[in-house]
Amino acid sequence: MCGIIGYTGPAQALDVLLAGLATLEYRGYDSAGVVVVDDAQAPALQVRKRQGKLSVLSGELSTEGLTGRTGLGHTRWATHGAPNDRNAHPHVSDDGAVAVIHNGIIENHAPLRAELTAAGHSFSSETDTEVVVQLVAAARAADPSLDLAAAVRLVVPRLEGAFSLAFVDRREPEVIVATRREAPLVLGRSQGSSLLASDIAGLLVHTREVEALLDGQVAVLTPRGVTVTDLDGAPAQGHRFTVDWDVAAAEKQGYEHFMRKEIHEQPTAVRETLLARTDAEGVLILDELRLDPAEFRAVDTVVIVACGTSFHAGMVAKYAIEHWAGIPVEVEIASEFRYRDPILSPHTLVVAVSQSGETADTLAAAAHAQEQRAKVVAVTNVVGSSLARRADAVLYTRAGPEIGVAGTKTFTTQIVALDVLALYLAQSRRALFPDECADHLARMEALPELIEQVLQCEPQVAELAQVFARSGYVMFVGRHVGLPIALEGALKLKEISYLHAEGFAAGEMKHGPIALIEPGGPVVALATRGHVRSKIVSNIAEVKARGAVVLAIATEGDTEIKEHADHVVYVPEVHELLYPILTVVPLQLLAYAMAVALDRDVDQPRNLAKTVTVE
Ligand code: G6P
Repeated sequence: MCGIIGYTGPAQALDVLLAGLATLEYRGYDSAGVVVVDDAQAPALQVRKRQGKLSVLSGELSTEGLTGRTGLGHTRWATHGAPNDRNAHPHVSDDGAVAVIHNGIIENHAPLRAELTAAGHSFSSETDTEVVVQLVAAARAADPSLDLAAAVRLVVPRLEGAFSLAFVDRREPEVIVATRREAPLVLGRSQGSSLLASDIAGLLVHTREVEALLDGQVAVLTPRGVTVTDLDGAPAQGHRFTVDWDVAAAEKQGYEHFMRKEIHEQPTAVRETLLARTDAEGVLILDELRLDPAEFRAVDTVVIVACGTSFHAGMVAKYAIEHWAGIPVEVEIASEFRYRDPILSPHTLVVAVSQSGETADTLAAAAHAQEQRAKVVAVTNVVGSSLARRADAVLYTRAGPEIGVAGTKTFTTQIVALDVLALYLAQSRRALFPDECADHLARMEALPELIEQVLQCEPQVAELAQVFARSGYVMFVGRHVGLPIALEGALKLKEISYLHAEGFAAGEMKHGPIALIEPGGPVVALATRGHVRSKIVSNIAEVKARGAVVLAIATEGDTEIKEHADHVVYVPEVHELLYPILTVVPLQLLAYAMAVALDRDVDQPRNLAKTVTVE
């Protein structure tokens, strides 16, 4: 969702804020704004905000400039109020003293606004956020002995919803106060300055030593340091950790888009995810295990919860866990799971999959599961993320920072990590012999090299994309492990090309979706070798008979498929359960090339955000 950055230190804040926002823009990008505290004799809040991408704001500020050494910056993903200048953050209290930036939703903003309006306050935006800054300013006005931090501590308990908030006050020109509840906020120190950001990426160029603020904590940042307290003002500490991401990994490095770079990083990302997965005796290990291994032996049901692309990785994992570990698996969209009454027991293992580790629905689903005494394993890309901290065990995907909004390398590494978890469960329950586990792991270790080979199809796919981009829709069909890849291929395409794209279980086509086929309409079929190949070939024949143009993703050496499909992209032969890690690659490349052909904003597609911290 929204990107947040804050700086107080010896440098000009504006430069730091704009550079920080550039690294966070993928979180939201319908408007951007900054506040810089002018630290001259009579400190004042200088606020500039503009609808549109960060470049609009930074373009304006490049001629104007704002001097001051403390400030906040924000990129917005609108929830309450249209994306326009007025609703952009920061928001300033009507007495002009306090400014705030916010990520999340204040659910009780309406009664708070009514209360403040009745007390004579005037509002200048339609946002939920503005009530917070008015409340803080009102608290200080009512009791002048309160400093900014004390006023924030008073106001936070009145807020409902999820939020991370950062404030400055012209009366304390070197101070930033921040707080959070169920939305991420990380703090860092560098060269006599203190910083905060909604995401590690915003701090990486300054420091790798970060402290994640925890729910209900309040941080006070000055150039001299950061102090953290709870809401009563008692000393507290966030979660401190070292980030092992490389700054260069968050840059484009010559690629025209992050998404293309990240697609090409998949061999490395998968290799990293597989590193050191066994101990000296060859026994599989997890990254963080806060559970007794006996509890894994007792697992009798697995429930995977996730959203978006991560949900598709969970769907792929179902086949591996059921096949290797022999445990029944349900896969459910986190936003649905959290609002039903799932039947869970202490022997249920809930696997929460989230690249960011901050998705509100997935976090709530994990909490819901833990309340019912189920154990939660997190599969995430972000060390120290809320999900990683909450879970009873963690498997990291080690994909490095992913900036493109459409998930690519986080998806393939999630499948790999989940396959490792499947083998771990199989090992715990002795469902596989140790040498069988070792064989599967060895097959997975060959994947980076095989993905490299699949990436060679890029020119062929790019050519096809020119043709497919002229069509109004694309359908994707698959069976077995090909089904989640059909869904993922369609999701990638709709996210970044804005074309209508749907994925279907190939066997379901004749129950409805086949009615959509028009002569010349493109259909992508996942048709690799395996026990359903002949079935998918029949499904290809059915759509061909209705005039579809079919692109098949098939196994190298399958020349017969050319008799059925109009175009074929080959991937190397692998174990049937591992095909998704290869077959998704041409679909990512197809979506990418079609979006480029249609001149779309590949890395920052309309209406989407990378990390969804609201429900
Ligand atoms: C957003 C992103 C998707 C992602 C989904 C779940 O919608 O745009 O790429 O798959 O959130 O995110 P998570 O961080 O939980 O994997």
